[in-house]
Amino acid sequence: MRIVLGVGGGIAAYKVASLLRLFTEAGHNVTVIPTEASTRFVGSATWEALSGNPVSNSVFDDVHQVNHVRLGHEADLVVVAPATADLLAKAATGQAGDLLTNTLLMAHGPVLFAPAMHTEMWQHAATRANVETLRGRGAAVLEPATGRLTGADSGPGRLPEPEAIFAAAMALVEGRQDFQLPLAGRTITISAGGTREPLDPVRFLGNRSSGKQGVALAVAARNAGANVRLLAAHMEVPPPAGVEVVQVETALQMREAALAAAADSDVVIMSAAVADFRPAEVSDTKIKKRDDRTDPVITLVRNPDILLELVELRNSTVRGEGHQLIVGFAAETGDSDGDVLAHAEAKLQRKGCDLLVVNHVGTDKVFGQDTTSVVILARSGSEPQEASGTKTEVSAAIISRIAFELNAVSPRA
Ligand code: CTP
Repeated sequence: MRIVLGVGGGIAAYKVASLLRLFTEAGHNVTVIPTEASTRFVGSATWEALSGNPVSNSVFDDVHQVNHVRLGHEADLVVVAPATADLLAKAATGQAGDLLTNTLLMAHGPVLFAPAMHTEMWQHAATRANVETLRGRGAAVLEPATGRLTGADSGPGRLPEPEAIFAAAMALVEGRQDFQLPLAGRTITISAGGTREPLDPVRFLGNRSSGKQGVALAVAARNAGANVRLLAAHMEVPPPAGVEVVQVETALQMREAALAAAADSDVVIMSAAVADFRPAEVSDTKIKKRDDRTDPVITLVRNPDILLELVELRNSTVRGEGHQLIVGFAAETGDSDGDVLAHAEAKLQRKGCDLLVVNHVGTDKVFGQDTTSVVILARSGSEPQEASGTKTEVSAAIISRIAFELNAVSPRA
């Protein structure tokens, strides 16, 4: 596929190098057209080297090739990232002062704008009107991500992560109407991995969680346009790019991180295996074998139930139930008291979370594996939903269910 990648003059231009890579690695032929202003952030040499194609933004370069007409005509897709307020305004009013704006006027295929600007600029009536105009003409304008902006402030206006723009671009080319990122503008906190509860400086009580499920969820949420915070306990896999990582070790640290992150999260997913108990005493020095040959005894105390606390906190705030979606995980084996689903249903009611993702575990199942099979239970009482496949596939199913629930309860403004 031939792609024209227009780069606007915003600090987020540096992220577009990764987007270009995603396009070229998928086998597409990309011509980059940077605006004059954008070359102050990323120079043309970067685009030439990464794309393998000549780079210009002048209608007077290679005039014999009539680039201002040809590039737009030939492109199967035009992506503009970051689409600044200025570029959106120029596109909406049909200006043609440089090669990129000419190309936009000549484009025959789909056009995708990935905006990035300060929140006030994004929310300004002029920008809103320009976005409406462009959408009305059939262009795809993504919702920007929410989160930390260039300065100290945060809000909607961040460039969606390159993987999310890539996913939206591919959906657009396939003619899908759902190219809009379903979690754009949402903040999701995901806990992952297994906590470690220290006994002394060298020993701990741990569990078999690999973190693969939580990381796969973070990737799926990021690709759906969300601003993702990963609360990472011990994991066997590295955290993905494009997510904010908060490293924790113990259940108590996880609790602190989760309560803090929940304050401004639209969704909290507790996929970490949090230890239910911790040693009552942690020795400052290594516990030694003693000569009297008595067996040591470890006394355990209960850890706080973070999921339960998150639900109580959410329900007690002014906005109450409905403004935040809380998702728990359950690893069940089934026993003489009931099967997996019966235990899970009881846990859902006990914890009060909105969705519970249920794994059927045995020593050979789920932990550390790449494939899994889950049932998603909803407190609203809707039919249990099954999902199975790789952890990536299952995560995509969980994230789209979350997006569905979220958009049903509080549609994006
Ligand atoms: N969880 C939590 N805080 C804990 C323990 C677990 O938030 N201290 C969360 C997990 O992240 C997961 C869910 O609660 O989302 C799992 O519930 P949990 O009660 O831990 O399940 P089990 O340990 O399997 O409980 P039980 O032994 O009662 O089956």
